Amino acid sequence: MAAAEVGDDVYGDDPTVNRLQSVMADRFGYAGGLFFPTGTQSNLAALMAHCARGDEYLVGQEAHTYKYEQGGAAVLGSLQPQPLENEPDGTLSIERIANAIKPADIHFAPTRLLALENTIGGRVLPLTYLRAITEFVHARGLKTHLDGARLFNAIVKLKIDERTAVAGFDSASICLSKGLGTPAGSVLLGSREFIGAAKRWRKALGGGMRQAGILAAAGLYALEHHVRRLAEDHENAERLAAGLRALGLVVEQPQTNIVFAAIPGDHVSPLGAHLEERGILASIAPRTRLVTHLDAPSARIDAVLQAFNDYSGWTS
Ligand SMILES: Cc1ncc(COP(=O)(O)O)c(C=O)c1O
Repeated sequence: MAAAEVGDDVYGDDPTVNRLQSVMADRFGYAGGLFFPTGTQSNLAALMAHCARGDEYLVGQEAHTYKYEQGGAAVLGSLQPQPLENEPDGTLSIERIANAIKPADIHFAPTRLLALENTIGGRVLPLTYLRAITEFVHARGLKTHLDGARLFNAIVKLKIDERTAVAGFDSASICLSKGLGTPAGSVLLGSREFIGAAKRWRKALGGGMRQAGILAAAGLYALEHHVRRLAEDHENAERLAAGLRALGLVVEQPQTNIVFAAIPGDHVSPLGAHLEERGILASIAPRTRLVTHLDAPSARIDAVLQAFNDYSGWTS
């Protein structure tokens, strides 16, 4: 990062950013890529580039773009989200989608886009589902966007290539932070025209950065060194889930690097305090979410399990 060759990316003059964008576009099979500081901003610019003011997009109730991004699409984009219940496996059923697409009628906001997320809550969406659903909505005239903040986890889990993972999506937002471990950065991918529109929205949203090459250099490093190792995070998640189950907790079977454990209500605060005393900061909740990553090697997982084990409240 310190040695990165830089320029002013607002003018498209940062060679390291340009390299990252073209490496990502090539790897995923899109005509263009655009670097963003965050996944939130990348998703929002994508929604705004696909939809005009007053348009509607279909999205899961549990989706990050709908639930965890401050309602940006509605607040800043003047877009109407149509949230749909996610199935237990994270998909949106074809029936729900079909019923939610509005007919051309003066009363309805035009439905323009389906936005999906993969992985969602650590669950990998099946490829056959993705093929069927993207074909279905394209036939109905909708565009498709994939929030692939954690898509590399799905790619490693399914042992597929990048192009297969995004097949059927007009655009995809891929994060280089999170599992890949960079301090910041996401790349939005799509057609040249789409990327041109997203670049204007990125500027409006305050995402035009100057010497952003120092961040892009981290992304290029991560693409080379941190993708295949995601399998270790998945193994660590299994190890964590098995260890917590051995303590008698109810734990959902992880598919990638995210573990959900049920913590009985009266243990939430005391367990959180107990872990904090041992230097483990965790947002303990009735459905506690634990995420494995490259800075948490298996020895740390064991330390976390030991701390859970030492908690004396289980027996009281
Ligand atoms: C699925 C998903 N999408 C989008 C985001 C937003 O990314 P950022 O935190 O970089 O804005 C996250 C963040 O965790 C995420 O998990």
